Amino acid sequence: MEKELQRLKEEAEKELEQICEAQHLEPFRVKYLGRKGGLLSGAMKQLRTVSKEDRPRLGALANSIKQEIESLFEAKKETLSLPVASARSLDTSLPGRTLPEGKLHPVTQVMEEICSIFEGLGFAVAEGPDVETDYYNFEALNIPPHHPARDMHDTFYVTDSILLRTHTSPMQARIMENQDPPLRYIAPGKVYRCDSDITHTPMFHQVEGFLVDRDVSFADLKGVLTSFTHNMFGKELDLRFRPSFFPFTEPSAEVDIACVICEGKGCRVCKRTGWLEILGSGLIDPEVMKMVGYDPDVYSGFAFGLGVERIAMLKYGIDDIRMYYENDLRFLSQF
Ligand code: PHE
Repeated sequence: MEKELQRLKEEAEKELEQICEAQHLEPFRVKYLGRKGGLLSGAMKQLRTVSKEDRPRLGALANSIKQEIESLFEAKKETLSLPVASARSLDTSLPGRTLPEGKLHPVTQVMEEICSIFEGLGFAVAEGPDVETDYYNFEALNIPPHHPARDMHDTFYVTDSILLRTHTSPMQARIMENQDPPLRYIAPGKVYRCDSDITHTPMFHQVEGFLVDRDVSFADLKGVLTSFTHNMFGKELDLRFRPSFFPFTEPSAEVDIACVICEGKGCRVCKRTGWLEILGSGLIDPEVMKMVGYDPDVYSGFAFGLGVERIAMLKYGIDDIRMYYENDLRFLSQF
């Protein structure tokens, strides 16, 4: 009898273990735990036939086996019903959890827009190194050692002859010395100056542009820049060419646009002038032409370098350039 009970227990445990679908639970229950005809009830009934001395011990054993199988059965039922329950509570019509979407930095967006406007005017795009030689950054641009114009650049030097480029103009010399006119290029990129306030950051972006051909005049420069600013800001925007000086252009002009933050009335961004300088420009100096081996009597050209952050500030009405570089998502995600 005792052996019989143990065997029944093992068999039931084994069978229960193999069950992995809820539909097989009920047949199992009927087979082992059913009140009428269940194998365990059958064994209980047989207790009546054993001797009086053995009955309490075997009765207790049979009971504990029954309880054990019952509790194993209940546990199994629970595990099998779990996925069913969670499938029912899963609402497949709910929207998924989306990851926050990254965006291009406003400066990158504006830089791409500037490039595409000039590409539309037939300019090709070229990029050059941020770590530049003194030669391309200064000397090839008609700024010899000790020239006072170097003071304006607040240069970060790496060694005596290597520096972080202070403007994208070195690209003029780099491209011209390797190619013959006609040339029409823009060169976007990062530039570095040791300067920091609400309109200056130590690293900022410029887009250089230049065109070299026969009979290029200041009128061509004006036409290209007017077309660019009107594309970028819309036709209503006032533009002014202000005489200036750069060692690598002659004549030179700085181009201002009416301050869109105060609409020309004067504010802290335009330093109360109503105007904001967006670029420097001019006709390429004959000295620069000579240094790259062009004959200035045959060829002429214009060049300009524009500040991308400035343009982005005007476009979006931002009054502190440092906002671009503080990585504040509340600011950046607005673009
Ligand atoms: N490189 C000048 C600057 O950074 C801008 C410039 C470019 C001026 C080309 C004239 C021609 O200030």
